[in-house]
Amino acid sequence: MRIGSEEHLTLLCRTFIDTHESFTPERLPWPELDAASVTKLRSLPFWDEALRTERRTGAKITAYAVEESPPLLREAVALQGYEETRHAALLDALVRRYDIDVDPGPTQPLPGNLEAAFMRTGYGECIDSFFGFGMFALARETGFLRSELLDLMEPIMQEEARHILFFVNWIAYKRRQRPPWLRPLHRLHCIAAFAGAAFDRLRSAKNVAGSAGRTGGKDAPATEPAGEAPPSKSGFTASGASAIADDFTARSFVELCLRENDRRLAVYAPELLRPRLIPAAARAFLAVAPGKRG
Ligand SMILES: [Fe+2]
Ligand SMILES: [Fe+2]
Repeated sequence: MRIGSEEHLTLLCRTFIDTHESFTPERLPWPELDAASVTKLRSLPFWDEALRTERRTGAKITAYAVEESPPLLREAVALQGYEETRHAALLDALVRRYDIDVDPGPTQPLPGNLEAAFMRTGYGECIDSFFGFGMFALARETGFLRSELLDLMEPIMQEEARHILFFVNWIAYKRRQRPPWLRPLHRLHCIAAFAGAAFDRLRSAKNVAGSAGRTGGKDAPATEPAGEAPPSKSGFTASGASAIADDFTARSFVELCLRENDRRLAVYAPELLRPRLIPAAARAFLAVAPGKRG
């Protein structure tokens, strides 16, 4: 299969659309938690960031879908917008169910350039998801959260895997749709979008650091600079990981992220491209990080 071909377009859209799962967050069997489990849940520092990010991501992607073409691609992007909005609804249901104090801040206006925003959001998800996969597995391995609760949140994680798979193939397809002389410009836009996403994550880390140690979130920074993307979840992945387990090393966490990343993406058509940059950076880190296993 040639990347950028009609066959590629069909496979990337059909893979995405056909693996969509139906569920309604409010109707999920939210488990009864004991007081200690609820306290643990409330102690996680990322609820404000997570809810804010999912809401805004859903709004941006849904808006972008309207201008996407051809229709099959539009359908897939619209479905991603729906899923992101549902992530926000799932988090909303969770914080209400367990009475977690959150302040996701005011609704922000949509960015002017929705395609650039979709790109920046997509690169951000590539970063967030990689570490989020590891954090989720860590929560399960350490028994930090009840498995029934993690089971309810599992669809979010696998949907993010689908989103980043879709995104890297969307990028490749879009680039091949341009004449060869315009492709370097597309690459430059990608670099700018990635840099913007990385910047968002640094800002997010500051926000989460501001929230860490609190059990609520009312005094978290609720504003975000006018720009294409809000603060996002990568700060929460790092802070969340340290909140879940004190004794993990950076090496063992990155190894776990890589394993989970590979496992979650392995179930989709091998002809589709996989995210490469963050896993490659993680492998480069492991090559030099102390504590290499023999
Ligand atoms: Fe999401
Ligand atoms: Fe996503």
